[in-house]
Amino acid sequence: MESAARTAPAVIVAIDGPSGTGKSSTSKAVAAQLGLSYLDTGAQYRAITWWMVTNEIDVDDPAAIAAAASKPEIVSGTDPLNPTIHVDGTDVAGPIRTQEVTSKVSAVSAVPEVRTRITELQRSIAASAEQGIVVEGRDIGTTVLPDADLKIFLTASPEARAARRSGELKGADVNATREALLKRDAADSGRKTSPLAKADDAVEVDTTELTLAQVIECVVTLVEEKRAAA
Ligand code: DC
Repeated sequence: MESAARTAPAVIVAIDGPSGTGKSSTSKAVAAQLGLSYLDTGAQYRAITWWMVTNEIDVDDPAAIAAAASKPEIVSGTDPLNPTIHVDGTDVAGPIRTQEVTSKVSAVSAVPEVRTRITELQRSIAASAEQGIVVEGRDIGTTVLPDADLKIFLTASPEARAARRSGELKGADVNATREALLKRDAADSGRKTSPLAKADDAVEVDTTELTLAQVIECVVTLVEEKRAAA
């Protein structure tokens, strides 16, 4: 399988959808299985949000965020077995997952200057991935990589998403998690610049009734079909 991955043409896979649909687990596993790089674009938006919070930039002031958007240096490691994220040389993999960053990331990522900066970074990472890459996010198929070879849009019922996310948060209250998820989805879908959206040519996969292994198998099959047709 390794040699098949080496000889196959580079393939760019965009996986979008709201949180709790299994995007990260699926994207990492598909990339690892097919010998591709992996990019978690949500981690980049979280990283720039962490920097804003750490540097006491008011996240309710879009002009202040815009003025600071080019300052932090954000570096993503794209090995699906060990994805990393650094800001100005500091490993922020842990700090970007705090409740404070999660509650502020939608406001920061709605600022056009932030999106322009992070989108450029994402395109240059995808262009330099020799074997190809799986890029997960909210606007990858619509805005960041509209020419991706394969676009997947993952969905799931709000109940399933909240249950999964509460499990990840080790027993957090499901109702509170559901409300927080729906609020973040509404903000991410409703923003003017590059909202969470399904590309017209994306394949929609409803993961509500599927196990993670089934979703991975489904996406791997779709990638292999694309490669065979190329
Ligand atoms: O995938 P995640 O929950 O870690 O993403 C965190 C936030 O980043 C999400 O609420 C919206 C934003 N985001 C975005 O605006 N565009 C992307 N391509 C990825 C994430």
